[in-house]
Amino acid sequence: MVTRAPLGPVLCVLLGFLTLCSLGWASTLGDIVYSRQAGADKIAPAYFPHWVHRIKYKCYACHDNLFPMRRGANPTMATMAQGQSCGACHNGKFAFGIDTCQRCHIPQ
Ligand code: HEC
Ligand code: HEC
Ligand code: HEC
Repeated sequence: MVTRAPLGPVLCVLLGFLTLCSLGWASTLGDIVYSRQAGADKIAPAYFPHWVHRIKYKCYACHDNLFPMRRGANPTMATMAQGQSCGACHNGKFAFGIDTCQRCHIPQ
């Protein structure tokens, strides 16, 4: 008689690995939440999901010409509107433009 591995436990183990892997990624390249201005300007904090960008770009697409590889770049809407910082891509051509506020300013 052929013994088959029961499907349930196998799936659990697989899913467990996947979850751990993605958690590992998330902690090495976490989302960055900008809370500097949120309170003062009464707008939800902006967030930058590293992983979403990593799917499309290599690290050097952004580091170090657009952003240093550490916190402290302090992007502003003014510099983005001039095509710098996030606005180098978020200009309505390469990616959604800075007019769609709610895609970056997400209530936490
Ligand atoms: C689409 C642009 C982009 C790409 C691609 C990107 N990063 Fe970043 N990274 C950023 C931004 C923006 C920040 C935050 C800078 C700031 O505003 O302070 C950042 C910050 C970081 C930080 C500091 C994080 C912290 O919380 O201290 C590290 C480390 C980092 N990036 C590593 C990487 C590595 C490694 C890769 C490639 C695997 C990568 N990044 C790809 C944009 C990018
Ligand atoms: C190198 C180009 C590039 C840079 C720099 C960049 N982005 Fe993006 N970003 C993209 C692209 C491409 C997408 C996905 C395409 C789209 O949805 O238009 C995206 C998607 C996003 C999303 C949507 C994620 C989702 O789940 O839908 C957010 C939020 C975002 N970016 C925020 C930022 C912020 C904040 C910065 C600056 C700190 C930034 N990005 C810098 C190219 C870039
Ligand atoms: C591509 C992502 C993105 C989009 C789209 C976007 N913002 Fe921002 N915004 C940011 C980031 C990143 C910061 C820096 C936040 C911080 O440092 O706390 C910021 C900062 C701000 C600030 C603080 C002051 C300043 O000028 O920097 C205000 C107010 C603001 N955004 C309003 C808006 C409004 C209103 C819209 C829509 C018209 C918008 N934002 C669209 C990413 C975005």
